[in-house]
Amino acid sequence: MATDVSADTVMQRCMLLGGYSEEVGRLTRPFASQAMRQVNEVVASWMQDAGMTVHTDKVGNLIGRYEAQQPGAKTLLLGSHLDSIRDAGKYDGPLGVMVALASIERLHVRGERLTFAIEVIGFADEEGLRYNYAYVGSKAATGTFDLEALEFTDVHGVTMSEAILAFGGNPDADILRTANWQAADLLGYCEVHIEQGPVLEARDLPVGVVSAISGHTRCVLTFEGFAGHAGTVPMAQRQDALCAAAEFVLAVEALARSKTGAVATVGQVTVQPGATNVIPGVVKLSLDVRHPEDTVREELCEQLQDRAERICADRNITLRWQPVQTSRSVPCDPHLAHLFEQAIEKTGYPLLSLPSGAGHDGVPMSSLTGVAMLFVRCAGGISHHPIESVSEQDVAVAIEVLENFLRLLNTETEQRGALKP
Ligand code: GLV
Ligand code: MN
Ligand code: MN
Repeated sequence: MATDVSADTVMQRCMLLGGYSEEVGRLTRPFASQAMRQVNEVVASWMQDAGMTVHTDKVGNLIGRYEAQQPGAKTLLLGSHLDSIRDAGKYDGPLGVMVALASIERLHVRGERLTFAIEVIGFADEEGLRYNYAYVGSKAATGTFDLEALEFTDVHGVTMSEAILAFGGNPDADILRTANWQAADLLGYCEVHIEQGPVLEARDLPVGVVSAISGHTRCVLTFEGFAGHAGTVPMAQRQDALCAAAEFVLAVEALARSKTGAVATVGQVTVQPGATNVIPGVVKLSLDVRHPEDTVREELCEQLQDRAERICADRNITLRWQPVQTSRSVPCDPHLAHLFEQAIEKTGYPLLSLPSGAGHDGVPMSSLTGVAMLFVRCAGGISHHPIESVSEQDVAVAIEVLENFLRLLNTETEQRGALKP
């Protein structure tokens, strides 16, 4: 007799996928990398074993489809991302794909079909590690891809367009601007994801329902001073780009702290020419700004730009402020979120609704269809760190909740009908 796919399988799979990395000894899986290709192959084989037809789309999103009871039915999208940050944990992204896959496998072993089809998506890029540009996968899938990103280059000078081609995708502008699905054919997009924060743990809850996903702004700043001899140029005559950048980094911390709910981070700094005995001539840094309210985020960005300009004027440094990417806050779909709440109640756990400070593929997906998310508790609220972890018991709860969610949606669509228009 066939047995249900368990949380144990999901944990083992996340562990196995965590071994596919571009770097030895730590998990780094950027967009369109060899490690990404390997992960797509492995996950595709699991999807096929679960009775799904599988393909990769124009940018390497892996998509498995589990058909409905009858042709012409609408489709529910489930998924998360399979790329990672540098030196990542094993669950940010892959957990959501594995839990979705487990729910399909459970249907498959029972020979069960629902009134709607389900597609499980492993997005090719949510983190934006390779091109400092997030959501390549979901933006291409929803036809909201910003075409100028095709010319962005990675650290080796490879453009995004070249990377897509080399991965077997298609960077044609019309194709990238066309959504993979018709909005009217969809029931929504739902994602299971680790919480990446401390709230569920503090409340002693295994899962929670997301109310909204915070917007973010990403910028690249270039501070251009004048390189010179570290031993001969008097302190008063220097145009030290790193001193200006350092002053700005501390201003980022202070200004973000002054606004409730705001977070701002400088996560990447490069110094040129980069030698002990040379005054830094050029410094480039990344800036990531977030707040649940778009107007507050925009206001903070203006204040930060103003501060950077003043620091540079005082230090005779030239500033280039380049906005790279902005996404607005996205409220989750109330109906789908309510179904998740009912699904949690059925499993016997108290309800908690919480906002997401992290970005998710649901942001671009919301341009096409309603989105909902289920968060799973992670130890210590730690994420974007190699020790990120979830417990098998919590994963078991997440699988059960997703299964209940699918049953509730099935009952609802049986009554309402789930045929495409
Ligand atoms: C993704 O994890 C992000 O929030 O940047
Ligand atoms: Mn992440
Ligand atoms: Mn993520």
